This record gives sequence, C-alpha cells and structure tokens, in this order.
Amino acid sequence: MGSTSIPGLAAKPVIDIIAVVKNGEKAIAPLENTGYTHRGEYNIPFKEVLTKRGQNGFNLHVLEQNHPEIELNILFRDHLRKHPSARDQYAQLKADLLADESNHQKNGPMFVGYTLGKHDFIGSILHDTGYTRRRFLRPTHHQEWADYHRIRQTSLPLGVAYDTNHPSVTACTAQHFILCDGITTRSIGHIDVLGQSGAALRALATDSGFQNQGYGSEMLTLMEKWLKKQGILFLHTHSLLDAQWFYKKRGFVELPPDFPGARDTPTERADMSPCTPTDMGVDWSALWAPSFSAPHIHLVKML
Ligand SMILES: CC(C)(COP(=O)(O)OP(=O)(O)OC[C@H]1O[C@@H](n2cnc3c(N)ncnc32)[C@H](O)[C@@H]1OP(=O)(O)O)[C@@H](O)C(=O)NCCC(=O)NCCS
Repeated sequence: MGSTSIPGLAAKPVIDIIAVVKNGEKAIAPLENTGYTHRGEYNIPFKEVLTKRGQNGFNLHVLEQNHPEIELNILFRDHLRKHPSARDQYAQLKADLLADESNHQKNGPMFVGYTLGKHDFIGSILHDTGYTRRRFLRPTHHQEWADYHRIRQTSLPLGVAYDTNHPSVTACTAQHFILCDGITTRSIGHIDVLGQSGAALRALATDSGFQNQGYGSEMLTLMEKWLKKQGILFLHTHSLLDAQWFYKKRGFVELPPDFPGARDTPTERADMSPCTPTDMGVDWSALWAPSFSAPHIHLVKML
C-alpha cells in the first residue's frame, strides 16, 4: 500500500507494507529478528509499526485480521489506481506540501506537517468511496481534535468552562481516543495512565444525536482492551451521577473505602494516612481533575 503501490505516482523510496497477522504482539519479536525496528502504534491503537532503513526504506504496518485500517488503505490505493485524475491531484498536493519548508517540522507529537497535510485529501477519497467502518483512533489531525473538543465540551456538563489547554487535558499521562464511523467522530474518551497498574477515566462522551446507539459502550470496551494490553489492572472513574448506571452495567462498582488510596483527594489528603504498602504504584493525587466540580460518584473496575 502507500504511494509506491500506485503506478505513476511520485513517491519517496520507502515501501509501505501491511502485514495481516493473528496476533500483533507476537509478531514483533520475529520481525525484529529480521532487521526491523519496532516503532509502536503511533495514532492507531492495535497497530504495530516496524521500519527498516537501507538503500530502500520499508514501513511495515502490522495489523490483526479485520482491523479497519486494512480495508481503508486498500480502498485508498485502489481508488488512486483507478482514477488517474485523483492520483495526479494527490501528486500535486504532495509536491506543494514538500515545497513548504514548515511541513518538514513535526506539527504535534507524532507527525510532520507533510503527513498531516495529506489527511483532508485522504478523507475526501474515503468519503467518495463510501468507507464507514468503525475506527478507534487517537485524535491527530486538526479536524479530529476539533471534533474531540467539541464533543467533550457539548456533551459533558462539568460545571466549569472546558479549557482545551487545562493541564488535566494536556498532561503527558493523558491518552485521548476517538471512535469514528469512517472519518466522522462519534465518541471521545480520555484516560490517564497513572503508574504501572492503574488508570483513571477522565472523560467519555458521545456526540449528541448519536447517544444510545452503542458508541459509548464500544469506546469503553476498546479503551479497556488497550489498557489491558499495557498491563493496567484497574480503571477508576468519578462518574457524573446520571451516568453511573452506564458504568455499573459494564462492570464498574463503587470504589470500596479500603481501595488503596481511595478518595485521596488533595483536600482530603491531610486527613488520610499515607498510601499503604498495597498502593499499586499510582500517583493518586493525579487522579482528581481539579476543575471537576459537578456531583459525581467514585467507581472502579478491575480489568
Ligand atoms: C454516558 C454516555 C457516554 C454513553 O454513551 P452512549 O454512546 O450513549 O452509550 P451506549 O449507546 O453504548 O449505551 C447507552 C445505552 O444504549 C443502549 N444501547 C447500546 N447499543 C445500542 C444500540 N445499538 N441501539 C440502541 N441502544 C443501544 C445500551 O444498552 C445502553 O443502555 P443501558 O445503559 O441502559 O444499558 C453518553 O450518554 C454521554 O455522552 N453522556 C453525556 C456525557 C456523560 O455523562 N459522560 C459520562 C461522564 S462520567
């Protein structure tokens, strides 16, 4: 897949390959033994990216069977193979992006502006092809971030103004996710991985007009699967009172008073004994978003 798979399209000497496997994690070590370097998942959870550089470069995208990115990449490739006008438009866009020096710098933590600049074009082709597969992603491109913040701001009544730059949103422990139909975002999720065994669910919201259609449940299930893959043992949340049944039906229970570090808020901390030896390596003070003032209930789920 990628530009080298489309005859007549200018491309860097880097060959992008999808490998479809039964178990992505098990595939990493054998591929490393053949000279590939494991780079992680970038913006697509449950994808393993490995690269090899030499006279030609190779990017290997390891995906498990039925991962929606497989179909997406094949559709995009086949569309450009069949439509020379779209191919030439894409070539022109790539040339324009390359000509602008600023696109060679990283624009965000993961990608250079060149990569981000192709996003809207790819999105319009996917729209034309009718691609609507459900996708679990990290928001990366400007439109995805705009959708993320809009849904979070409009669906989550926190009792305080939503600040996109609040430290609880920008913290290095923050993991942000979106659930999309094709290129359209439906649900957003934010978890903080706090230490080796625990995580806090900071936000889960589905766009208005799309609630009660299964998006929130799927988002929660996928975030839990992602956390389990990182070896995280439990997920804590301070749920809005109205949302508690949503969580309780999905395995969350009220946080037991003896749960290590329970209710160890900055204000309550003075009255609490220090975390016990059973403290599971979590910075409990970080569990509490300082701006969260709406009535809530503390829930936890063992993963
Ligand atoms: C809470 C919230 C995230 C749930 O998201 P959602 O997308 O509506 O969740 P789901 O559709 O998966 O589940 C909601 C209900 O729809 C039902 N449902 C699931 N799939 C469905 C489908 N395909 N068709 C119809 N209903 C469905 C579920 O059974 C569930 O009902 P239940 O809780 O009685 O079991 C959403 O209501 C929301 O954004 N609320 C505002 C923000 C908020 O309160 N967030 C939580 C803060 S702690």
